[in-house]
Amino acid sequence: MEHNHFNMIPHHLRISLSLLRFSLVFTLTISKQCNPYDENILLELKTRLGNPSTLVQYWTPTTDCCRNWASGINCDDVGHVTSLTLGFVDDVSGPIPPIIGELLFLRDLEFWQKNISGAIPCAICNLTNLEQLTIRETSMSGPIPYCLGRLTNLTQLDISLNDRITGPIPDSLAHLTNIHVLQLPANKLSGQIPYSLHHMRSLQWFNVESNQLSGSIPASLALIPNLTVIIMDNNKLSGSIPHSFGSFQNPITLDLHGNRLSGPIPGSLGRVNAYSMDFSSNGLVGDPSFLFGRNKTFALTINLSNNRFELDFSKVEFPAGLRDLNISHNMIYGSLPKQLGQLPLRSIDVSYNQLCGPIPTGRRLKRFSPIYFSNNKCLCGLPLPPCK
Ligand SMILES: *[C@@H]1O[C@H](CO)[C@@H](O)[C@H](O)[C@H]1NC(C)=O
Ligand SMILES: *[C@@H]1O[C@H](CO)[C@@H](O)[C@H](O)[C@H]1NC(C)=O
Ligand SMILES: *[C@@H]1O[C@H](CO)[C@@H](O)[C@H](O)[C@H]1NC(C)=O
Ligand SMILES: *[C@@H]1O[C@H](CO)[C@@H](O)[C@H](O)[C@H]1NC(C)=O
Ligand SMILES: *[C@@H]1O[C@H](CO)[C@@H](O)[C@H](O)[C@H]1NC(C)=O
Ligand SMILES: *[C@@H]1O[C@H](CO)[C@@H](O)[C@H](O)[C@H]1NC(C)=O
Repeated sequence: MEHNHFNMIPHHLRISLSLLRFSLVFTLTISKQCNPYDENILLELKTRLGNPSTLVQYWTPTTDCCRNWASGINCDDVGHVTSLTLGFVDDVSGPIPPIIGELLFLRDLEFWQKNISGAIPCAICNLTNLEQLTIRETSMSGPIPYCLGRLTNLTQLDISLNDRITGPIPDSLAHLTNIHVLQLPANKLSGQIPYSLHHMRSLQWFNVESNQLSGSIPASLALIPNLTVIIMDNNKLSGSIPHSFGSFQNPITLDLHGNRLSGPIPGSLGRVNAYSMDFSSNGLVGDPSFLFGRNKTFALTINLSNNRFELDFSKVEFPAGLRDLNISHNMIYGSLPKQLGQLPLRSIDVSYNQLCGPIPTGRRLKRFSPIYFSNNKCLCGLPLPPCK
């Protein structure tokens, strides 16, 4: 029909008309970058989310999803939607519709909104191009889907501060061999930390603090070559600290405070360079003075507080870079070594031990509050009252 109509037009006009048509199509394609398939998925997503007013305002078919819809959407050169953030706008609520699993070009997906609820949709396991997935401060509930292990392009998985996310850390996450950052703090995760996680060869940052994880610390974590941040505090981890943790080659940050760890700290940890080690509030015993030592080159924070360590403190040698020292609430005896008065300490807490004798003089120690030296057997001198 259209073709016949076209044929009735004189030749010279025909050429300019088809030029016009060509340039019209061309400008339309140029002016709207958004891939029509992805646009339809987003519009359908808006509907299935119950048309939240913020999305109704910005996600309109007449504008370009890549440029005009909202800051949470980004596209690649050919208009495929590569990142989507559902957050900050507080009228997005309820469960995430499975249709989200059809935005197949997504590389970055973020849910960041307290009113988002429901299960973590298994449909996102179809988004195999995902490199970053963030589920933060939502009301989503239930387990971390096992199928997330399919997202092998992930470099960053952040499921944080969701107080209704329960169940175990799936051992399928071991398939995420490209992951650098695994952030799972402050959910309600329980069960053991899977032994197989060492298959995450690229992992650098591992944070599972403030959950209800139990069982022992997997010795296998020390097999991950570039792992440098290990944060597992405030769980119910028990057993002893693995001997293998002495094999970390890079300087580490290790936080194990507030667990149920027992036994001595393995001597192998004396070989490890650390920025910070927090062993406080466990049931650890023995003499961990090998953790100090003049050799250590980094600015070091060390917290042994609130355990049952027993040692003669007089003989301990400290690294020159010691910044924060906390040995409070133990059974540590002897005197404070003179060297402590010379160190560039930012904080010190030796309270609630059995220490005795003069607090080393020098510019530094007298500046701290007396409470950090209190409740010992017979410490004296500034900032405490003078020695008799
Ligand atoms: C994933 O994609 C496949 C194939 O397109 C589809 O059959 C399946 O239902 C999808 N899974 C989910 C959980 O959406
Ligand atoms: C993963 O990343 C690689 C390299 O960037 C890419 O070639 C591939 O298409 C991506 N997607 C999947 C599903 O592997
Ligand atoms: C560890 O880090 C080094 C130096 O950045 C890098 O060359 C190496 O590929 C990394 N190894 C893994 C398994 O990611
Ligand atoms: C100090 O470092 C040297 C060389 O790196 C090493 O041989 C020695 O055992 C270390 N001493 C202590 C007390 O760690
Ligand atoms: C352990 O002590 C260090 C240094 O005093 C401090 O920075 C840190 O907050 C303490 N940890 C806890 C759990 O209080
Ligand atoms: C020492 O660690 C304990 C935790 O066991 C903490 O309560 C205290 O505030 C810390 N002291 C300093 C000076 O940070």
